[in-house]
Amino acid sequence: MERLFKDLEILTEADKEACEVMRVSEEGKKAHARKLYIESYGCQMNFADSEIVTSILQEQGFDTTADFAKADIILLNTCAIRDNAEQKVRNRLKHLTTVKKNKPETIIGVLGCMAERLKAKLLEEEKIVDMVVGPDAYRDLPSLIAEVDSGQKAVNVFLSREETYADITPIRLHTNGVTAFISIMRGCDNMCSFCVVPFTRGRERSRDYMSIVAEARDLFNRGYREVTLLGQNVDSYKWQAPSHEIEGIKNEVVTFAKLLEKIAQIHPDLRVRFSTSHPKDITDEVLHTMAAYDNICKYIHLPAQSGNTRVLELMNRTYSRDWYLNRVEVIRRILGQECGISTDMIAGFCTETETEHQDTLSLMEAVQYDFAYMFAYSERPNTPAAKKLKDDVAETVKKRRLSEIISLQQRLSLERNKQDLGKVHRVLIEGFSKKSEEYLFGRNTANKVVVFPKKQYQKGDYVDVLVTDCTAATLLGEGIEKISNIS
Ligand code: SAH
Ligand code: SF4
Ligand code: F3S
Repeated sequence: MERLFKDLEILTEADKEACEVMRVSEEGKKAHARKLYIESYGCQMNFADSEIVTSILQEQGFDTTADFAKADIILLNTCAIRDNAEQKVRNRLKHLTTVKKNKPETIIGVLGCMAERLKAKLLEEEKIVDMVVGPDAYRDLPSLIAEVDSGQKAVNVFLSREETYADITPIRLHTNGVTAFISIMRGCDNMCSFCVVPFTRGRERSRDYMSIVAEARDLFNRGYREVTLLGQNVDSYKWQAPSHEIEGIKNEVVTFAKLLEKIAQIHPDLRVRFSTSHPKDITDEVLHTMAAYDNICKYIHLPAQSGNTRVLELMNRTYSRDWYLNRVEVIRRILGQECGISTDMIAGFCTETETEHQDTLSLMEAVQYDFAYMFAYSERPNTPAAKKLKDDVAETVKKRRLSEIISLQQRLSLERNKQDLGKVHRVLIEGFSKKSEEYLFGRNTANKVVVFPKKQYQKGDYVDVLVTDCTAATLLGEGIEKISNIS
């Protein structure tokens, strides 16, 4: 399961959800504590939130378990992005019915985006659920659990304009000890017409700059060598510094470029990544900051969603095809051909014609993406698209367009990987390869997975690897030199 998400280069909707599903808590060691089992679905933000939830409940004396049968409380941290993400949770709840039958005192809670979308309705629809908790209400978990302990059902789905959990130190649940995620903002104000996130995660807000720097520094001091700064739209990070000086700044508004630079300055051996960049917001200043620091990885996840301007307008993405292509040109100019670029694509959005679908394919060819996450459009209730547009592309057509997008990306990924053959790539080792303990894996700056023989190398090392072979998903090579410092 570990890093499976990153190991797959081409992800279809089914693949993506299959590997995102079920990050479960690990076995704790306290003998008499109440046991918490938490299972996370959806995006990295949700995984990061589960670490916050675990931290809050450990403060209350809970210990984690990896076995739901042993749990006193079972939490599902859910995703609502597409219908099948929700169906997966519904099936999981059915499965948990037996647990509840055998041990009726087990508390079952639904957290996250599906909880926020369905609110108290979820209690009516899924009888075994005791507690429904939205993404901004996790501090309230202890009292919600107390309510359930006293025999009631409990709901808190209030969305906040301020909550960022800045002061809570996450309990790293699935750590390889080398790479970690740091949430730098929450919510989204963009209102892409297809998307449920603004409704499930609320208004966009940026987390306190100092707490982010402190978290990254602490991770580095504990041996971590890579942090990924997370937000739905990291380029709109904005934080007002106070009038007295802290961390070398005062009065100014801290932008994402400034934050990125500050994190990069913690130590040259700490790699910095970030996700996601909205094409309308990524600034040249961010690109120049990336270019100026060797330890800021040259990889940008820049979701296009479609290659056709009319469809982009309907999606309310606020950029055109030409504008997007121009951003890619600027990225290539400032960061070079080696910079990895990936996208998200939606096949069969409302009213999309065959020619417009071809525009998506031709945009992909033009950009030469390294990776892509690809989905068939799934209408989400109450989103602007659901209210105003017709979900009129037949399911079979969506699926066919999606498979054309996937096959094209397969070819593009292979072509891009072939360009890496015969070159030396600096890799941060994250662990053993999935297939054999004789091999290690890590990623290069462009976020490509590189697999190579173990030899004397270890997790957490930087190694220069000569790439000798590749598939569409992975680069294969041979370590040639261990590097103590990446700069
Ligand atoms: N904030 C990120 C995306 C977060 S959601 C961004 O703006 O790029 C991750 C991806 O899920 C989206 O990029 C989109 O491709 C996909 N997605 C979102 N809503 C969808 C829907 N209703 N149907 C299909 N795919 C969807
Ligand atoms: Fe959804 Fe658009 Fe916000 Fe991304 S930017 S989370 S796609 S509304
Ligand atoms: Fe899913 Fe919520 Fe993330 S809808 S993709 S878990 S923000």
